Amino acid sequence: MEAVSVGKAKEAYERVLSLLQKHHSWFSSSLPMIASENIPSPAVREALASDFGNRYAEGWPGERLYAGCRYIDEVELIAVELGKRAFQAEFVDVRPISGVVANLVAYSAFAEPGDVMMALAIPHGGHISHGKRKWGGTAGVVRGLEVERYEFDEENYTIDVDGTRRRLERLEREEGRRPKLFLLGASVFLFPHPVKEIRQIADEYNAYLVYDAAHVAGLIAGGVFQDPLREGADCMTLSTHKTLAGPQHGMVVSWGRYAEKLKQVAFPGLLSNHHLHAVAGVAIALAEALAFYQEYARQIVRNSKALAQALYENGVEVLYEHRGFTESHTVVADVTKYMDGREAEERLERAGIIINRNLIPKDYRLKTDHRRPSGIRLGTQEVTRLGMGESEMKHIAELITKIIIHGRKPEEVAKEVAEFRREYRRVHYCFESATEAYGYIRIR
Ligand SMILES: Cc1ncc(COP(=O)(O)O)c(C=O)c1O
Repeated sequence: MEAVSVGKAKEAYERVLSLLQKHHSWFSSSLPMIASENIPSPAVREALASDFGNRYAEGWPGERLYAGCRYIDEVELIAVELGKRAFQAEFVDVRPISGVVANLVAYSAFAEPGDVMMALAIPHGGHISHGKRKWGGTAGVVRGLEVERYEFDEENYTIDVDGTRRRLERLEREEGRRPKLFLLGASVFLFPHPVKEIRQIADEYNAYLVYDAAHVAGLIAGGVFQDPLREGADCMTLSTHKTLAGPQHGMVVSWGRYAEKLKQVAFPGLLSNHHLHAVAGVAIALAEALAFYQEYARQIVRNSKALAQALYENGVEVLYEHRGFTESHTVVADVTKYMDGREAEERLERAGIIINRNLIPKDYRLKTDHRRPSGIRLGTQEVTRLGMGESEMKHIAELITKIIIHGRKPEEVAKEVAEFRREYRRVHYCFESATEAYGYIRIR
């Protein structure tokens, strides 16, 4: 170990703590609109700071390989029961520590290395964990799956079911390969996926169907968007921290007939420690979902539509107007008339509007460099949680328009953003909200 004076070490320590506080204060006066994030309730944050985060509990509740799990087991069983109710599922595993790990559980349970998996290409909304080996995707690199893409109807932002069927027939005729797994779900998830139609195709190939609900889990729990298990999915994987506003963690939701297979690959296959403080947070988030998400999910979708409409009326090229722009928390716009997605992201960030650049379907055809894509992606789930409704979305659209179209100085707009945020301090759609949404909790 290199010798460092106590003073120097303390400096680094202080620096980290002060950066954490700066982050909190920045987010308190910004508009966090990254579609894959959310702000959990103070109760979830309390769970995250608990001693559960320092413990181990390998295995299933009641069959642990560690002592000290008396209360941990009870909490995990509560999370499982609440998960079953929220998704009307026969089997729930709250151990996967993230959405990617939940996907790996499904890949490992339902396919073998070398099997063909169907998934969306990234510019069509797919996630890197669904990706081919050649792109460094988890499915290809870690599980060794041969990923083939769905045919995509760019005009309507949906899977082209007939085109996919023809593509699969060709794959079998010309290469003798048949799909083993159909993966649905996306990171830019504007409209429900054709689960029933893909189920029919999966049945023809005797294949499994997994639905990645990372982005839309909260909407599904709230009874909007779609109901993948009833529509034909064998299994649903999810992150617990996007529209389901819990801690950063994952979950697998499925039918009783797959329980043993899924449990086995999760542990000992893919997990040792499964982040027990997060499991407690997931239980709390699921209780909040059961109590409040019918209302929350509906408001998210109303807000996305209102934001999209207002941006569109202001001249921003929001995609899929003919389909009502979106049925989810996400809105996408093509900004190339003014700048590329990266510049838009940077300028908006300086204005306190935190969004991300994104590949959009035309980038697939144009082979655009993914670092400078044509689009931006906006999520309304977090600002909705701060208590905002449709009229606030109009105001946010104005602020974004000032940056994208009118070329206003971001630092000036940042002042307006901070002023606007003053009135939205607490988390809504939860049981208790005494602490400010982004209040820094000091327990030293
Ligand atoms: C569709 C999809 N699946 C999986 C993930 C990965 O989730 P996590 O970050 O929880 O591993 C994401 C992340 O945004 C996603 O968009």
